[in-house]
Amino acid sequence: MNTQVGIIGGGPSGLCLARLLSLAGIESVILERQAREYVEARIRAGILEQGMADLMRKAGVGARMDKEGLLHDGIVLTFDGREERIDMAALTGGKQVMVYGQTELTKDLYDAVLKDENITVVFQAGHVHPVGFFEGEPRLEYVKDGKHQVVSCDFIAGCDGYHGASRAAVPRDRLVEYERIYPFGWLGLLSDTPPVHEELIYANHKRGFALCSMRSHTRSRYYIQVGLDQKVEDWSDERFWDEIRRRLPEHIAGKMVTGPSIEKSIAPLRSFVTEPMRFGKMFLVGDAAHIVPPTGAKGLNLAASDMYYLSTALIAHYKEGREDLLDRYSETALRRVWAAVRFSWWFTSIMHKFNEDPIEHKIQLAELDYLMSSTAGKTTIAENYVGLPFDPTFE
Ligand code: APR
Ligand code: PHB
Repeated sequence: MNTQVGIIGGGPSGLCLARLLSLAGIESVILERQAREYVEARIRAGILEQGMADLMRKAGVGARMDKEGLLHDGIVLTFDGREERIDMAALTGGKQVMVYGQTELTKDLYDAVLKDENITVVFQAGHVHPVGFFEGEPRLEYVKDGKHQVVSCDFIAGCDGYHGASRAAVPRDRLVEYERIYPFGWLGLLSDTPPVHEELIYANHKRGFALCSMRSHTRSRYYIQVGLDQKVEDWSDERFWDEIRRRLPEHIAGKMVTGPSIEKSIAPLRSFVTEPMRFGKMFLVGDAAHIVPPTGAKGLNLAASDMYYLSTALIAHYKEGREDLLDRYSETALRRVWAAVRFSWWFTSIMHKFNEDPIEHKIQLAELDYLMSSTAGKTTIAENYVGLPFDPTFE
């Protein structure tokens, strides 16, 4: 099989990138390890920055998001019995975030991709292996139905997430990996209950962090920080509901509508960055290149800037014969990646319990008290949470 861009991974990065390229007449093949149903069933985050929402619209898949998504102007932080709202729209010249589940976003992308004549998707593609990307002859080798197959292409986009094959195929002496593992995880619960509040609540508490989020007016998504020794089977629904209400101010906990979980899982937290993000004819996109703790809701929104930059660079290559944007991809993408890694680390550090030392919590409370008393303090959270701009010179 021959194509212009070979994409490893049919998650949000691979799907949206393929659509952006297709709208410019550029063909691609997506090799996805799993079946469509498996990919669409994965429960992930649900906050879109304006940049990601705009990319979905640009990719022609924003209609349901705009119809069903919830636009939010602010978030709430709770700490020391207090409830402090950050009016992000007021502090950022009107910027909002869109609450729209990644599960739905992935379904919308697949609905468009599978009807797109410029895109071929191969599900259950096994043993995908990128080769020839340093030698100028990029190819994707894989196994399908027991037969060895090859996709010859001009470029490879590694959109295969943290555990994917693209980064793993790069010789260790050609990249640097930066990683921080956090000493806790997030236990998440999804329930068909009305959200406890109309905006998201991030809670700092001496028992640990909690987050009250949502997918719609009738479906809630909650998280509590748990130790790395915890297993999801240790947490009945009842135990979860009791614990999250203990981490919230009473006037909020008292309003929480509980119900049976429709999904419950524990996710580890890490910060991870690969440098560079380009290896000859292969480019890394999204979780294949970087991971952030979910505190800042940056995972998908960082993939968005990668997709924007790489699609812009590839379109300039095919339409104008330009190489400059391809040469700038890694440096430009990494600048926004590190800014988001910093914010996600910082927001995690002030909202979570790291140890039993009582002075740690007192210092966190002092920092939160200061931040909420200062327009500059609230603004720094607001402008990072709604999303820092994409590089305007990258065109
Ligand atoms: N071969 C083929 N496909 C693979 C391979 C492989 N070796 N390894 C992984 N994949 C597929 C996975 O099955 C998945 O569908 O690549 C896809 C990667 O998707 P994500 O992990 O969602 O990463 P990405 O598309 O970059 O999305 C980034 O969305 O899923 C969230 O937490 C993620 O918020 C982040 C954002
Ligand atoms: C979610 O709704 O899943 C969510 C929201 C905000 C975060 C992380 C996850 O920071």
